[in-house]
Amino acid sequence: MRLKKRLRAKPQRIYSFTVNERKTIMLPKPNFDGFGQANLVKVLDGEFWITRTENSYHVFYNECAHMGGTLETTKNSLICRHHGWSYEFDGRNQNLNGPRLREVKVESETETHLQVSLLNRLKKLEAGPLLSPLDLKIHSHATIELVYRYRSIVFDPWLDGPAYYGSWSLYPEPLISGSDLKVNGIVITHPHPDHFHLPTLERINKSTPIFYPKFPSQIIEKGLIELGFKNLQPQFFDD
Ligand code: FES
Repeated sequence: MRLKKRLRAKPQRIYSFTVNERKTIMLPKPNFDGFGQANLVKVLDGEFWITRTENSYHVFYNECAHMGGTLETTKNSLICRHHGWSYEFDGRNQNLNGPRLREVKVESETETHLQVSLLNRLKKLEAGPLLSPLDLKIHSHATIELVYRYRSIVFDPWLDGPAYYGSWSLYPEPLISGSDLKVNGIVITHPHPDHFHLPTLERINKSTPIFYPKFPSQIIEKGLIELGFKNLQPQFFDD
């Protein structure tokens, strides 16, 4: 049996968009009683770690440089439990040559506060109703194609061959190959090989705009450049 699924959404008002704007925030300095401590704070829509090292305070996104996992604090480090990456309180990766944590620049400092500038996502715009049906094609696994009025975007294309060094296969087999995909955009959600599948991407037109999370580790970026993709669209989580 081969996989063939197609869903059709009725035209209706379903979309809203957020618009980012920069906002200056005064973060209260945590009550640290020495160096080498970290505090998690929630500001606007985000979470940030404030740390104190011998020389200064630092503010970091609560976002692992590997694949964006959230961090926890230990006595002398920040650690991500997803795959075990850990960081010094000044943002340095404890793995040799590993990328640093993404840092928010402290613009100025008073006795009690740190001034930073953050993205504010509170402004919301609503779009009008869809004028045509939105087609949703499920090709395989997480490979979903959205088609709206002759324009389409595909998520996590895995269509050609196995993943994870041959240990994962698609069943049932997809009806199409990467070379059959004629899309206007590609979205890669994360770099696991069942979502970021190089043999499939190899078969897709390299001028197609490709959107992916901008992890400091640049795992996705490096693979795409090697494959020859020309229109890279990295996105921060708060973009
Ligand atoms: S996402 Fe943090 S170690 Fe992988």
